Amino acid sequence: MNAANNAQSEKKKIIFSGVQPSGVLTIGNYLGAIKNWKSFEEEYDPIYCVVDMHAITVRQTPADLRRRTYETLAVYIACGLSPEKNTLFVQSHVPSHAELNWALACHTMFGELSRMTQFKDKSAKNAGNINAGLFTYPVLMAADILLYGTSLVPVGIDQKQHLELARDIAIRFNSVYGDTFTVPEGYIPPAGMKIMSLQEPAKKMSKSDENVNASVAILDDRDTIIRKFKRAVTDSDTIVKKADGKDGINNLINIHSCFTGKSVEEIEREFDGRGYGEFKLAVGEAVADALAPVRSEFDKLMADKPYLESVMKNGADRAHYLANKMVSKVYRKLGFVARPR
Ligand code: TYM
Repeated sequence: MNAANNAQSEKKKIIFSGVQPSGVLTIGNYLGAIKNWKSFEEEYDPIYCVVDMHAITVRQTPADLRRRTYETLAVYIACGLSPEKNTLFVQSHVPSHAELNWALACHTMFGELSRMTQFKDKSAKNAGNINAGLFTYPVLMAADILLYGTSLVPVGIDQKQHLELARDIAIRFNSVYGDTFTVPEGYIPPAGMKIMSLQEPAKKMSKSDENVNASVAILDDRDTIIRKFKRAVTDSDTIVKKADGKDGINNLINIHSCFTGKSVEEIEREFDGRGYGEFKLAVGEAVADALAPVRSEFDKLMADKPYLESVMKNGADRAHYLANKMVSKVYRKLGFVARPR
């Protein structure tokens, strides 16, 4: 972003979000988050981060983490986020995130963090590695958001509790030290907010699921996508209609609707009397058709690492400029002596 863009975009409200490079990105990440981000490009000043520091709360293989960091950035761009209109960067490239994390940790209560359902879920899954980072994860997320004076945070519904904590921390800090942080609002997309597993449709689709048929990756090839949808768990009924207790079909109708833009009623009418087999195939085809251009753009981007690195650098430069101003303000408010020049 050049200086003129910088000046112009500083007037717009900030939108901030991020994805952990902790696995293969799924259509849950796409529909709950990334797909919606593009629509904010004109109205807001968007900042999107690859949150590699959050990813290490669960043990990662370093080479995989490094590769996935590039991949996640490439997915952002392949999904249509142009680096000219969006600040795209990697969290660990901007030290202010770690700095504000500490300042906010000292203003976050043990009890608040103990109530986080994601901590409880993740500790149950990683019983051998319940580290302090896993516990304080939401503080780093609050730092990500509050560093930029963010107004809007587009996320899936699983992040709602973390977002509310970020708001509480901002309000608390402001009440003690005077107006410092913007109190952010969440944007949770009505249809895509919680895409469920294809194998256990009462559970959220997750990039860390060990069952490969449970989730569909944004980058899965056409045959794989269609095969996974054909195997999706449904129920013993045959009518394609949303209803309580039909978690599998409800999820498939939702996914179809998100990818085709058709309403639930239109889909139910279209598949009236046609049975689950035909419907599952149609969902798979709709998803594969919609994701094909993302995949081909992704392949091109991954073949050009210097380009991805230039995006990372420009993004980190701008993010650092903004974030560093906020850290200086916070340090001043806390009573830290400014580093003599
Ligand atoms: P992560 O990496 O788990 O997920 C990235 C985004 O995808 C959404 N999501 C889903 N949406 C619908 N259905 C699903 N099955 C599904 N699975 C994931 C998540 O809600 C999220 O929006 N803590 C965040 C990353 C983060 C962040 C931030 C987000 C760190 N700092 C600051 C916003 C602002 C996370 O774990 O996302």
